[in-house]
Amino acid sequence: MNATQNLKNDHVIIKRIKNISQTCSNKLYANQFIPITDIEILSVIMEEFVDNFHHGKEEKAYFPETKDKDGFAEDIRKFLIEHELGRRIAMMLRRELEQWKKKTEKENNHESNGPYGSVNEPVARFLKAYAVFLDDHIGKEDKFFDMVEQKDSITNSENETLLKYYESCKTQAGGEVRIQEMVRLIEYLEAREWMKV
Ligand SMILES: [Fe+2]
Ligand SMILES: [Fe+2]
Repeated sequence: MNATQNLKNDHVIIKRIKNISQTCSNKLYANQFIPITDIEILSVIMEEFVDNFHHGKEEKAYFPETKDKDGFAEDIRKFLIEHELGRRIAMMLRRELEQWKKKTEKENNHESNGPYGSVNEPVARFLKAYAVFLDDHIGKEDKFFDMVEQKDSITNSENETLLKYYESCKTQAGGEVRIQEMVRLIEYLEAREWMKV
């Protein structure tokens, strides 16, 4: 497999994460109950799979290797800014989740507002913002990757080097076992009742 295709394959998984985030947001806005623990799992997937693992490969390996080629620098500069945006949304989501949890625990102690607390608008908003970010970012990168492949911009030896770098990125993101665990968690969320229409 080549280094560009490897990232495109990640994007197929990331699109599933986008769908979960979008559905989760829609259901929260529609006042449907979703366990906070499910949203926490989604937040871990965003942090570990999207950010540490996938953006790690792009930022530490693929982009540094391609940024001086064929006028790619401007595209890559924008992608890096978008990664920062994604990180910020994920961070704000985590913060709101924490607050929501604390509030829910308090409410449960006082038995005031039912067992699950009220709808959390900021959580719904950041989940939606994350889905929009992923959709936009992945779409642009896929076009960019198509262009890299069309121009045949990466040599065989560069490709080998990139694949080696990817391996060390995987190790930094917790290794093969942890990445497989992330994919299992995505499957778990996809099978949840609230994911069904
Ligand atoms: Fe990216
Ligand atoms: Fe990407």
